[in-house]
This record gives sequence, structure tokens and C-alpha cells, in this order.
Amino acid sequence: MSIELLREIQRRRAFAIISHPDAGKTTITEKLLLFGGAIQLAGAVKAKKSQQSARSDFLGIEKDRGISVSTAVMSFEYRDLALNLLDTPGHNDFSEDTFRTLTAVDSVLMVIDAAKGVETQTRKLLEVCRLKRTPVITFINKLDMDCMEPLDILDNLERELGMKCTPFTWPIGMGPHFKGVYDLRDRTVNFYLAAARGRRNDREILTDLENDTAKELLGTDRQKLVDEIELLQGAADPWDPVRFSRGQLTPVFFGSALNNFGVKELLDCFCDLAPAPQPRETTVRVVEPEEEKFTGFVFKIQANMDKNHRDRMAFLRITSGTFRRGMRLQHVRTGKEVQVRNAMTFLARDRSIVEEAYPGDIIGIPSHGGIRIADAFTEGEKLEFTGIPSFAPELFRRVRLRDPMKSKQLQKGLEQLCEEGAAQLFRPLIGSEYIVGALGTLQFDVIEARLREEYSVDASFEGLSLTICRWVHFAKPELQRTFENSYTKDLFTDGAGHLCLLTETRFRADYLADKNPGVTLTATVELH
Ligand code: G4P
Repeated sequence: MSIELLREIQRRRAFAIISHPDAGKTTITEKLLLFGGAIQLAGAVKAKKSQQSARSDFLGIEKDRGISVSTAVMSFEYRDLALNLLDTPGHNDFSEDTFRTLTAVDSVLMVIDAAKGVETQTRKLLEVCRLKRTPVITFINKLDMDCMEPLDILDNLERELGMKCTPFTWPIGMGPHFKGVYDLRDRTVNFYLAAARGRRNDREILTDLENDTAKELLGTDRQKLVDEIELLQGAADPWDPVRFSRGQLTPVFFGSALNNFGVKELLDCFCDLAPAPQPRETTVRVVEPEEEKFTGFVFKIQANMDKNHRDRMAFLRITSGTFRRGMRLQHVRTGKEVQVRNAMTFLARDRSIVEEAYPGDIIGIPSHGGIRIADAFTEGEKLEFTGIPSFAPELFRRVRLRDPMKSKQLQKGLEQLCEEGAAQLFRPLIGSEYIVGALGTLQFDVIEARLREEYSVDASFEGLSLTICRWVHFAKPELQRTFENSYTKDLFTDGAGHLCLLTETRFRADYLADKNPGVTLTATVELH
């Protein structure tokens, strides 16, 4: 193993920010990019919402709605680290892509709105982190607004997410009375007003909360702080790096992203705590990042990144070795060898051709189709990465074709669009209709618009009362025929040919699983 490779691996951090819409993910992202020097101007990321960035808002639908549908990656340097921030769409209509992005990171920053506590989208995303034992660092945002009591927030986090909390900072007051945060490790107070006035170094050292300065500066909040610190010493879980690395315990920070308060402390601590690129499991062995030979897997496919080229971009997480421009790689699923000359990296809002990249980096490989999610690229070894799932959609719609002469184009369009992974295509065992399943309603509008624009197919969607999808597995192959004969009208095949049960209630799915020993129904399926 070369020292150069080892050094590059050690300084990489691949992470994602997860939150419920409006908790402040965009605002924090912007501050992180500012600290990293990747953008010069506050507002550059936020502008995306209203002005549209050239990077990802490529669809008419995105323009109409003023939101960014696609997940992208932003790379920036901070201290001596190379940080790769994978963006997860923060609006209500998030898709499977959002979930799958979490397979490509080594840690996660979770942003919680201090007034609202844990909300649905955060809960769903954190479930995936817990399954994958991804370390999570928590930022409680919007302390400058009226919010929940900090102890209640911790309680809410622990109960809702099943993860223990170790506060690293503690807020003093809130809303109009927000004074700052107390650093529980080095016992200093970071005053909000000093920071707001731009005097970032105006940081009082208060090792002793009993002294006169502390009394004067903290006023009536001092006693509450002293009491809470005492309470925390007994009640909060002590810091434990091993439990953190297993996703069982999260360090918690408080602040206000909008006012850039507490974000730098968060970033510094993130850099100290977040793990370097981790090994990845495959069907044959565990791949270690330090291995000389290149390996990587595709976790996301995005269409038409560049309006001028109707291309797709396959986002690949490098898992071992060094990527060099022009190197020949094997596309394991197809067995084809490809020379990769035009892979891209993503620096904040720009993309450029990558000359060299390392484990923990994300590169974009332009493709005209043929690359699928979970595909592995290697220097010849035949392996497939595990743990890249497809998630059960929760909304289902039947496709209605307005011009029956276009059925071939419809099939091609649906297959290709669903191959990108934001929605799934199902066909019934009997019959010829198409059912599209997704996690958010927006995906249906995107598909309808793209069928029209890219495939000249005029189709619409019709609502269905189905809500549950389960992949069907048989302990013995002979069970399959009986099951298919008994429940034909509930059974479908997905885009990869797996058998699925689509039904209206969870109760019915559970009932069928109980009634049929040897048949297992799962809410996720491995993609390889
Ligand atoms: P998101 O990406 O998670 O959806 O959230 P985003 O950062 O867009 O923040 C949602 C709203 O909350 C924004 O206001 C933002 O300015 C505000 N916000 C973020 N952090 C803080 C904070 O620490 N304190 C307070 N008071 N507000 C915060 P908006 O009105 O929806 O957008 P804008 O007009 O500010 O762009």
C-alpha cells in the first residue's frame, strides 16, 4: 500500500446532512461551504431555491415548483480534510435516492428544528442509518427562536430515534433570551451576541461559573445553567467513541445556523469525530479502502445533468484504490471493460473532469444508459457490493396511455426512467398494465413530464388504493407456484424481475406471511 494512498484516504470524509424540510439543512450546507471556501457569498446555496442553479435544476418541473429534485454531491476542503457532502433532497417529495445516498456515506449530520423535535422524514432516514450503523452527529438548530426545553429535546431524540445523546454544548436561554452555548468539554461560554456582532474571538473563558464575570454576563440564566450542567453530569450518557462509531450514541450541538452560531464548532468537532472511509461488504469479501486495486459502486443515477447533453450521470462511491483518468475498469454486471476518460468531480456548484480520486470520493460517470444502481466497477475482480437496497414504495399509480400507438415508447420510457431509481415499475402476473410505485408524489409528475419531453409519450397516472409493497422470498422453490396460484391478483414483478406483493393494508401482508410458512415478505430488497 502506498503512503500517498493512505494519506489521501485518511483525510477524506464522505457524509450527508439529514433533516426534515425547513429544519435548516440548506442554511447549514451554505455555512459549511463558506467555511470550506467553496463559496464566497452567503446566499449562494439558498439562491438555488428561487433562482435555480445550473447544476441540478434541469427539469421544467423543477423550475415550475422552485425546488431541486435531484441529489448531488459537493466537495470542499476544510483544515487538512477533503470533505464530500452528499446532498439529500429536503422537501416532502423525497425518493428512494435519498435513502440510498446513505449507503455511500461514512457518517451523517442530523439537523433538528429546536421547536419541533424529531419529525417524520428525519425518523425515516435515521432508521436507515441505524440499520447500517452509521455514526450520527446532531445539530439542534434555531435556538434564536422560541423552542422546546433542551432537556425535552434530548428526551425526544432518545425516545424517537432509539439513540443515546451526549450533549457537547448546552444552550443558555432561547428565543429572544438566547445568550449562547456552554461548551461542556472545555467549559467555556460562546456568547451569541459577540458572534452576532462579528466579534468571533470575543469568547469568554468561564471555567468557573461562580465568579463575578459569569454572574454578571449570564444574569438570571446562570443558576439554571449550573443546575442543568449538574443534572446532565448524572443523567446524560458519557461520551463513548465506540458506541458513536456503531451509531448507538450521538454527540449533540446547539446553535443557530441562520446566524452562523455554533456551526463552526460543529464543523470542527465533525472533523475530529467523523470516520475516514470505511470498509464495504461484497458478495465475496470485505473491501478495505487501502487496497491498491480500484473498486467502487453506483448509488445514484441522475438524468440530464447538463441541459446540452441528454446524458445520465452515474454517481459512484470509490471504495478502494486510486481512480486515474483514462483507466480501464470492468463493469462487473455486464462483464464489459470501459475506459473512463470523462468522470466528473463536483466542487460546490461546478463540475470538472477528475484526474485522480480516492476512497471516500464520489465521481460521476457520464452514461447513455446501461449503468444501473448498485453496479460495481473494478479492475477485473468479480464482486458485487451488498447493502444497497431498494425500498418499498408507499404510493402506487396505474399508467394510462392516451395514444395506444405509443405503447412501445411508453414501455421503453418507463423502464429507462425507473432504472434511474427514483421510482419503481411493476407489472402484474396477469395483464399488461404498468404500475409505478414511489415514495413521494412528485416522482409521478417528474415521470409524466419526462415521458412527454424525452419520449414523446402522452400518459397520465391514475390513483390506486395500494399502499404496501413486499418482496416475496421462498424457502423452497416449489412453494412459488402454489403461492402464485393462490394470490395471482396481488402479485407483480418489479423492474428486476423479483416477485412482489402489492396490497392495500399492512394487515393483509402480515396475514399472508403468517398463513404461508416458508414464504418471507420483506420491505427492502438487495439490488445486486
Ligand atoms: P431546509 O433546507 O432544511 O428545508 O431549511 P432551510 O435551510 O431552507 O431553512 C428553512 C427556513 O428556516 C429558512 O427560512 C431559514 O432562513 C430558516 N432558518 C434556518 N436556520 C435558522 C435559524 O437558526 N434561526 C432562524 N430563526 N431561522 C432559521 P425561510 O423564510 O423559509 O427562507 P428564507 O427566506 O430565509 O430563504
